[in-house]
Amino acid sequence: MNLKELLTGCRTYRRFLQEPVDEAVIREALENARIGSSGANAQPLYYYAVTSAEKVKAMQPLVKWAAYLPAEVGTPKEQEQPTAFIVVVKKAKAIPFADVDVGIAVNTIALTAWSHGIGSCIMGAINIEKIRELFGVPEEDQIRLVLALGKPSHTSTIVPVKEDGDIKYYLDEDRNYYVPKRAFEDVVHFV
Ligand SMILES: Cc1cc2nc3c(=O)[nH]c(=O)nc-3n(C[C@H](O)[C@H](O)[C@H](O)COP(=O)(O)O)c2cc1C
Repeated sequence: MNLKELLTGCRTYRRFLQEPVDEAVIREALENARIGSSGANAQPLYYYAVTSAEKVKAMQPLVKWAAYLPAEVGTPKEQEQPTAFIVVVKKAKAIPFADVDVGIAVNTIALTAWSHGIGSCIMGAINIEKIRELFGVPEEDQIRLVLALGKPSHTSTIVPVKEDGDIKYYLDEDRNYYVPKRAFEDVVHFV
C-alpha cells in the first residue's frame, strides 16, 4: 500500500468482524503516536489501550455512533461492535497547542492500524464521566477522544460533494458508507 492508498482507505469504520485486534498492532500504533510532533515538545498525552473482553464490553455503551444516521443503521449491533478501544487523555495544565497534538496522535494511530487492515472510528461523542470512572482517570486530566478499532465488515468510499453542498455521509442498501469530500479547487488556493 503506498501513502495515497493508505490515506484513501483509512476512512471511518463503524462495523467490525468479531476478531480481536492483535496487541502488536495497538502497540505499534501507540508507539508511532508517542514519537509524533508535539507543540513545544510538551508531550501532554497518554493513552489507555482497551483490549480485555470485559473492558471492551464496558466501553460499548459509552460511545455514540454516526450522528447523521438513524441508530438502527448507524450504530453497530452486538455482533458488529469494535473489538478494541484507545482512550486519549490530555494531562492537566497542557498548553493550548495540546489539542493539535491530539489530532496528530489520533490520525497516527488510525493510519498505523489501517496499514495492518484494522479500521477505526475517532470518537468525540463519548461519556467522559463513565470512562473516567472505568479506568480511574485523574479528575484533573481531560479525556479528549476515543478510537474504536477492529477489522471492518463494510466498505467506505470517498465521493464528491454534490452541488447542494451536503457533506453528510450516507449508506447504500448493504450499509456501506459514502463520504462526500469537498473538491480540491474549493479548499486549496495557490497564490
Ligand atoms: C474529532 C472527531 C470526532 C469524531 N467523533 C465521532 C463520533 O463521536 N462518532 C462517530 O460515529 N464518528 C465520529 N467521527 C468520525 C467522523 O464522522 C468522520 O471522520 C467523518 O464523517 C468523515 O469520514 P471519514 O473519516 O471516513 O473521512 C469523528 C471524527 C473526528 C475527526
